[in-house]
Amino acid sequence: MRGRRWVPLLLLLGMTSSRAAGPTITIDTTTPAGKVSPLFYGLMTEEINHAYDGGLYAELIQNRAFLDDAQSPSHWSVVEGTGAAATIALDRGQPLNAVIQTSLRLDVKEASDGRAAGVANEGYWGIPVHPRTRYRASLYAKAAPGVTGPIALAIQSDDGVTTYASGTISNLTREWKRYEVTLETRDVPTTAHARYLVSMNRPGTIWLSLVSLFPPTFKDQPNGFRKDLLQMLVDMKPKFLRFPGGNYLEGDEIVDRFEWKKTLGPLAERPGHKAPWGYRSSDGLGLHEFLLWCENMSAEPVLAVYAGYSLKGAHVNPGPDLEPYIQDALEEIEYVIGPTSSKWGAQRAKAGHPAPFPLTYVEVGNEDFFDRSGSYDQRFAQFNAAIKARYPRLKVISSVGFEQPEARRVRSVTPAVVDEHYYRPVDTFLKMARRQYEPYDRKGPEIFVGEWGAYETPFEPWNPRSRGEAPTPNMRAALGDAAFMTQMEKNSDIVVMNCYAPLLVNVSPGARQWRPNLIGYDALRVYGSPSYYAIKMFSTTVGDEILKATATDTDILFAVTRDSRSGRIYVKLVNPTDADAPAQIDLENSTGLLPTATALTLAADSQATNSIDAPRMVIPIESTVSGVKSGFVYTVPARGIVVLTLATRR
Ligand code: AHR
Repeated sequence: MRGRRWVPLLLLLGMTSSRAAGPTITIDTTTPAGKVSPLFYGLMTEEINHAYDGGLYAELIQNRAFLDDAQSPSHWSVVEGTGAAATIALDRGQPLNAVIQTSLRLDVKEASDGRAAGVANEGYWGIPVHPRTRYRASLYAKAAPGVTGPIALAIQSDDGVTTYASGTISNLTREWKRYEVTLETRDVPTTAHARYLVSMNRPGTIWLSLVSLFPPTFKDQPNGFRKDLLQMLVDMKPKFLRFPGGNYLEGDEIVDRFEWKKTLGPLAERPGHKAPWGYRSSDGLGLHEFLLWCENMSAEPVLAVYAGYSLKGAHVNPGPDLEPYIQDALEEIEYVIGPTSSKWGAQRAKAGHPAPFPLTYVEVGNEDFFDRSGSYDQRFAQFNAAIKARYPRLKVISSVGFEQPEARRVRSVTPAVVDEHYYRPVDTFLKMARRQYEPYDRKGPEIFVGEWGAYETPFEPWNPRSRGEAPTPNMRAALGDAAFMTQMEKNSDIVVMNCYAPLLVNVSPGARQWRPNLIGYDALRVYGSPSYYAIKMFSTTVGDEILKATATDTDILFAVTRDSRSGRIYVKLVNPTDADAPAQIDLENSTGLLPTATALTLAADSQATNSIDAPRMVIPIESTVSGVKSGFVYTVPARGIVVLTLATRR
């Protein structure tokens, strides 16, 4: 800690006064030192921690297509009772179609009025029940000869005692047919101790497939997103979304990669796939939904294309073997931006979106520094040439950044952008916050910090002890994150994009694979970690010009930008120490500065955090700062993150 001798005891948070010496931050408000990248800040996503299935993708039925397990219908159970008996089994003899080749056979052996037997789904750690809510239930069904139903659908308590909403399907036939019913709750209590029941009150055999239940979705979009979760993301005003991964892009083996074509179209045409984080993906949230997700946030896609390397080490040789994968990537880009006269642009239009989506950046692979075959250099060059030949305006990102040894980087061509990933302890982030990007060559390549997150304790996914720790970061980690953001923002002329990872975690027992994560949720609730609020504070106050700022005699980390249209100046201050830190703020050439500013402050004990049961322990507080003029003193509270918004007369 540097000299604090002069600190006046009476300085309180937000109080200002004029001083002549000591800790000082000097901001040149006239000459911008560079342009802030228009893509500050963004989000990164993949299917991890039940981010989509059991998360953002609003489907409530787990294993709806009966494909999750080859042996038994996991997450489903028989519901019987006195005078009501049934059996269930996976049946490969009655496939829905060539894509969904397994169905569920339900044999109701004994049942009568008031004594129904059937099968129940446990949902993703419960079915969320809300009062006065309409649920969209659908399923495919066929029946044995002579059986016509009816089938009863119900959202009911785990113990079957209370029915919250119900509906009926009748006139079943021997052919597969899709049925849809609205289930509506009345003044029921909010609970997730509920299950979804499909039952009959007559003996008979039926087969079921794609049993689906959706609550109201964001903007009522069909096959859409969970409202509260997407709203948390919209509130961050992200400029881009990096998808589909992450490891999720690559898959364990080549056959497990994110095959975008298999994620399009009606749900009955999506087989889903084995994902790398220990559970299957339904692919209900597929390429088209990723794009709609971006659009819902007014964010631009940053599309990662599969590049011929998968997690367990298999790679595709550069040259002719790689050509089909390159073709596939070009077609994927065509789906995103091609005209409706193109093959894949027409498919996009058929899916309801004739207008192309915005796209500037395409990433080739993910973390290809793990490829010990040394093939990435050539694979990248081949993808890069093909993408640039077809789409000259696109910028192609290498998945290996300067944080990796030179031998693993792309050397035969110069990538337009390189992606760097940093999962490091808080102390390392605090060090990186002082200098990381200052020495980077401004001539390029541009830097994309495509995954980053500070952790308080080392995370070892393979270590059971790590699994017991909180799913989301505490205040200390948020300080490391915020400090690193000041460094990225100061250097956002060359660091053109950044996104924290992982984004989402279902905090229910057994649902997560990683920590820390930004946003936690269960079936009913959602909360932001301190890091979520830190990022939101930064991402909603980004100017378009970097202002030059220097500091003397202070541990405060800072970044200053200005919005050239409104004249607002955003001063971001991070005090990672345990003592309040006053600093004199000198504003050179600040004519027209208004004497009143706003301060958004996130400050708490290091260990303080938010959780699913205590979601608002650490949240930003807004206050007014008066006496703002060049030389005013502002005190950043201990373990505090502050965004000062200074206004100027226009
Ligand atoms: O964010 C979790 C994982 O970390 C990503 O899937 C991968 O890219 C990185 O190693």
